[in-house]
Amino acid sequence: MSHNLTTDHSVHKAMAMMGERLSELTNGAVTLRIYPGAQLGTQRESVELVQRGILDMAKTNASELEAFDPVFSVLNVPYLFTSRDHFYQALTGEIGRELFQASRNRGFEGVTFYDSGARSFYATRPIHTPDDLYNMKIRVQPSATAIAMTQLLGASPTPLDFGDLYTALQQGVVDGAENNPTALVTANHGEVSKFFTLDEHTRVPDMLVISSKALERLSSAQREALYQAAHESMMFQKDAWESASEQAIATAKADMGVEFIQVDQALFADRTRPLRNDIAAQSAQSKKMIQKIERLSA
Ligand code: GCU
Repeated sequence: MSHNLTTDHSVHKAMAMMGERLSELTNGAVTLRIYPGAQLGTQRESVELVQRGILDMAKTNASELEAFDPVFSVLNVPYLFTSRDHFYQALTGEIGRELFQASRNRGFEGVTFYDSGARSFYATRPIHTPDDLYNMKIRVQPSATAIAMTQLLGASPTPLDFGDLYTALQQGVVDGAENNPTALVTANHGEVSKFFTLDEHTRVPDMLVISSKALERLSSAQREALYQAAHESMMFQKDAWESASEQAIATAKADMGVEFIQVDQALFADRTRPLRNDIAAQSAQSKKMIQKIERLSA
């Protein structure tokens, strides 16, 4: 299994725990070997290897799955999830199951989600309102929706892989980026970006995917074990996430001198509102999913 995070990240710890449980539940018949830090390739490359059955599993941010099936754009819609509870309610129910199966005829499917918090902008200059983003070069994930969102806010988006971002920030190739607060510490972005704006525009989860070929090799009891271990690791990471995120904020403030800026999120929501309609117009499935998610928060 391939992923692009460090081994001190809660998502890595949760997947390591999943591997241990999987091996316990299958009496050692199924084991998981995890390759962190993008050593087997970027998220996009890893999912492509999963698709071809060369790799069994990969963790990717759901933003990047947009390139494999357009319905994943729904998860990139700004301010669609109104709270963490709303997010969990959607993803642990019918909508989550629909997303796991969305790529079934493309050679892989979803196994579980992991919390990646709310994404916000951070840069070398403070951002208080969308106007402050005007003409700033902002790194976004390689996702058409993330690019469109950043353009609506007046900034100039630069799609880059996560592993290339620290150098891009350090060399001034980009003025800033957008992510959850753990990126400041686990990826050291707080060494360069000293202003983190809590605009919380999206809540795009990380997602664990498995190759259809790997699933076919498992007996039905082993598949059950896989889903049980995955569910337990999701619950473990859900608990671990909040403290990891709070700890990252505390460390970024105390050790890196990062300033956290409270903003009027409605200003950012208003500017990005057209994107919700654009994504809904992409397909009947996306439109229905957006409506279902909106109804859950009502
Ligand atoms: C988050 C997420 C990663 C993702 C990264 C990014 O940190 O957990 O899966 O790769 O954002 O911005 O690329």
